[in-house]
Amino acid sequence: MVSFKELGLVNTREMFAKAIKGGYAIPAFNFNNMEQLQAIIKASAETKSPVILQVSKGARNYANQTLLRYMAQGAVEYAKELGWEHPQICLHLDHGDSFELCKSCVDFGFSSVMIDASALPYEENIALTKKVVDYAHQFDVTVEAELGVLAGVEDEVASEVSHYTKPEEVVDFATRTGCDSLAISIGTSHGAYKFTPEQCTRDPKTGRLVPPPLAFDVLDAVMEQLPGFPIVLHGSSSVPQEYVDMINQYGGKLPDAVGIPEEQLRKASKSAVCKINIDSDSRLAFTAAVRKVFAEKPAEFDPRKYCGPARDLMTELYKHKIINVLGSDGKAE
Ligand code: G3H
Ligand code: 13P
Ligand code: ZN
Repeated sequence: MVSFKELGLVNTREMFAKAIKGGYAIPAFNFNNMEQLQAIIKASAETKSPVILQVSKGARNYANQTLLRYMAQGAVEYAKELGWEHPQICLHLDHGDSFELCKSCVDFGFSSVMIDASALPYEENIALTKKVVDYAHQFDVTVEAELGVLAGVEDEVASEVSHYTKPEEVVDFATRTGCDSLAISIGTSHGAYKFTPEQCTRDPKTGRLVPPPLAFDVLDAVMEQLPGFPIVLHGSSSVPQEYVDMINQYGGKLPDAVGIPEEQLRKASKSAVCKINIDSDSRLAFTAAVRKVFAEKPAEFDPRKYCGPARDLMTELYKHKIINVLGSDGKAE
């Protein structure tokens, strides 16, 4: 058993309380490799933003759980080396799908876990979530749960339809499970194709897809039921068109990729939404930078020469999210 406290990590309790009060959101960035982690920590340290490092089940399998834990511990030290005196870094399991996986992460030094039982019937979601909460809270590890189902295309998280969260269920769910935060479904979804062209309109000037607005009425109703309770938005990448264009220009094929407009995330960040999940945008930045190097310098075969530019572009992306979208800069001096 390793406590997250020994690793210099923090859970989400205080982070979320401050974020709700301050009208900003904490970035939750997924990572699978060293370059992503370096970029996340550099961006957070330079902006003094609290940050949640997210590890999915797929990432854990890809990178090895032991290595990931030491990477997170290393991230705290790296942050200090960058001049961030009091790093506020949380290590979080993203979309845990079983009690055993959540328990293993709690035992292994994670400071927060998500149990995603949203695809199960309501009572089963409550039972499994409560089991995870009862275990995790013994070690001061915070728990995120989910109500409602997101549409999505991620390999470990797949659902063809989106069912908005029912506001009339949230009080009963939060009370009976004891969860610390709640992910809700208001129209966001995973991946780089969040809406079909049929769901969008087209900007006549640019020809770009314009997605439909998020269901802020559902968010408002949830906040009315659970005043001051931490709300989480998954599937919140904006799918920046400059990265999509770069990828397509340098041999990729991402037709009609579309995300959540940043102004909607800015609005959400000011509410009880205090954690915003972003993974796909980082994948797009990485891919765009690598494709550019490969296209322009076909003789290049030193990974540092293409992973380096990818890391720089991701750092720029994370800083932009922190400063211009979530407003979490300067909140962890
Ligand atoms: O919500 C899903 C995250 O983007 C993680 O995706 O399961 O492919 O690692 P992954
Ligand atoms: P995106 O695919 O929109 O980046 O969402 C990531 C996410 O929700 C991770 O849990
Ligand atoms: Zn997610």
